[in-house]
Amino acid sequence: MLTKETAAEGKLRVLVCVSGGGTNLQAVIDAKKAGRLERAELVRVISNKPGAYALKRAQEAGIEGICVSPKDFPDREAFHRAFLSAVDEASPDLIVLAGFLVVLPAEMISRYRNRIINIHPSLIPSFCGTGFYGLKVHEAALRRGVKVTGATVHFVDEGTDTGPIILQKPVMVKEGDTPEILQHRVMEEAEWVLLPEAIELIAAGRVMAADGKVSVKYQDEAGGERSVWHI
Ligand code: GAR
Repeated sequence: MLTKETAAEGKLRVLVCVSGGGTNLQAVIDAKKAGRLERAELVRVISNKPGAYALKRAQEAGIEGICVSPKDFPDREAFHRAFLSAVDEASPDLIVLAGFLVVLPAEMISRYRNRIINIHPSLIPSFCGTGFYGLKVHEAALRRGVKVTGATVHFVDEGTDTGPIILQKPVMVKEGDTPEILQHRVMEEAEWVLLPEAIELIAAGRVMAADGKVSVKYQDEAGGERSVWHI
């Protein structure tokens, strides 16, 4: 578990895992550039897809980007071994799954307990679990006719989207939304805000997990309390 003491020792070494476009990775890079992630250092980006645009974003930001593709290994076990050693090699304090669509090896989840976070494009426990990823989440939300959706950042445990919830932010569904329009609004209003914020809070030692739940200690510059979505 990350504690104030751990965070105080130096910068939080952050490893980001991606599979696609990497707009969430970009949000983290931009937050860092804007000086909002002073306690964190982006040490490596790992993609499971060779052509992922996220790797280009990493390169442009001067972050080491590598690809570990299942297609380069004879079986899942060999891929898991290679992936885990690429993770370990970076000595991360925090692993961020930013649109990473690979089921993690069980060994990795126990080794990095409460040190892996995931961004999911709905308000968990709605529209999450096996089969709910990317656009499919928004298609399901529109099909159900919900009026409010959003995004969630949570710690990763052995289940799919079942780990302790760190941050959530609601987003209104609007008349005429398509899955693509809704996906973009959820990203812009929620995901790109929440993910850097979660990293910042963890780096500051303000996130504590116990009994499957997370408590976040908030403080604004004046030392007062503030709520989750007033960035
Ligand atoms: C994001 O919307 C993220 O929340 C989602 O994939 C997209 C990746 O976009 N993740 C999941 O659905 C995980 N279950 P990005 O590559 O542009 O950040």
